[in-house]
Amino acid sequence: MNATRQADVVIVGAGAAGMMCAIEAGRRGRSVIVLDHARAPGEKIRISGGGRCNFTNRDAAPRHYLSANPSFCISALRQYSAQDFIRLVEVRGIAYHEKTLGQLFCDSSSRQIVELLTDGLAAAGAELSLSTGMREVAKTPDGFRLETDRGTLACRSLVIASGGRSIPKMGATGFGYDVATRFGLGIVPTRPGLVPLTLDPPTLERLAPLAGVGVEARVRHGRTAFEEGLLFTHRGLSGPSILQISSYWREGEEIEIALAPHADVFAHLREARGRNGKQSPATALGALLPKRLAQAIGEAAEPAAARLADLSDKALRRLEQAVNGWRLKPAGSEGYRTAEVTLGGVDTADLDSRTMQARNVPGLYFIGEVVDVTGWLGGYNFQWAWSSGWVAGQHA
Ligand code: FDA
Repeated sequence: MNATRQADVVIVGAGAAGMMCAIEAGRRGRSVIVLDHARAPGEKIRISGGGRCNFTNRDAAPRHYLSANPSFCISALRQYSAQDFIRLVEVRGIAYHEKTLGQLFCDSSSRQIVELLTDGLAAAGAELSLSTGMREVAKTPDGFRLETDRGTLACRSLVIASGGRSIPKMGATGFGYDVATRFGLGIVPTRPGLVPLTLDPPTLERLAPLAGVGVEARVRHGRTAFEEGLLFTHRGLSGPSILQISSYWREGEEIEIALAPHADVFAHLREARGRNGKQSPATALGALLPKRLAQAIGEAAEPAAARLADLSDKALRRLEQAVNGWRLKPAGSEGYRTAEVTLGGVDTADLDSRTMQARNVPGLYFIGEVVDVTGWLGGYNFQWAWSSGWVAGQHA
């Protein structure tokens, strides 16, 4: 990049949101430069969905998003929906499948989505400037001036698409929040979301033998519950149901877990006791749970009982509680190191939901994960990136 260059639109961040915005702005005839300090565009897309990118969710709707203003995402999701992105994928001829719960994945590789975007950028005449770090951003009378480590840029519209704090190893920075603060926009405090939860040392020690065990569980926090896989790990708990609930959970709070949510555990144990009282509680629970888990629960809840016949109904109720009413206070989360997303971010009260433009700074836009809109696990976060990027691309 030469000393001072002029563009209609500069976009910081060549991720999902930034590239979608660049394509749309370029199509409108705007001169567009997309900057990224990374060496390759769309790195999070590339690694997403285990290399197959869960690029959207067929059912994406506002209720799948967390934000201080839950209505903020309505406009963008309506203007550019999951069906719109699916059409783009189909026109491109990318084969995909639904895995579960409306989650759409590439059959072959997430690189196909990255290529869809980089080819779209080129076709729209947008320029991609990689390995370009940002130093300063300043307002000028007719736009913005940016000092990058490849020279100075001047633009009319500045779009911040620099993502959240998750996975710093991949280039995540707090850049977008700093820009927002500098221009007087509010920040809803950020925290890691869609992240494994950790346990205190005694609980961890007790559960250590279960590392690697997985079940279909129902995990609840207050009135919010998810029924998906749960995985015991060497650090604590993971799996989709835990990642989902982690976005709702706060330090010091409890979650409640049902490890066999569709079973009437008490009825099952009573029937088992009547049929064969000599069997151990663990053996009886083994019909409902993986063996190692049944063993651990049986021994922890009724350590002295070798036979079901020795257990009263009250004791069976205790076992039922241990299986389907397990209340636990996670010690913490694995943090931004492994979090898929960042909750909180640029306060939507300071943005126009129809355009993504800052209310008090004409020409300044925020899109994607840097904004205080965070989706559930399951393709919702990319859909927010596509929708918010598309919307800003119509106005920047
Ligand atoms: P994104 O983070 O993609 O892009 C921001 C860009 O800005 C990056 O390229 C970064 O290098 C650049 N940048 C940052 N600071 C900068 C600076 N100071 N100067 C220049 N450039 C800068 N979601 C989903 O819907 N389905 C899925 O399958 C997955 N899977 C998944 C797996 C893993 C491991 C993670 C970590 C995350 C997911 N996600 C996901 C979440 C999804 O990846 C995320 O929500 C989107 O990538 C957000 O898109 P953005 O474009 O907003 O930010």
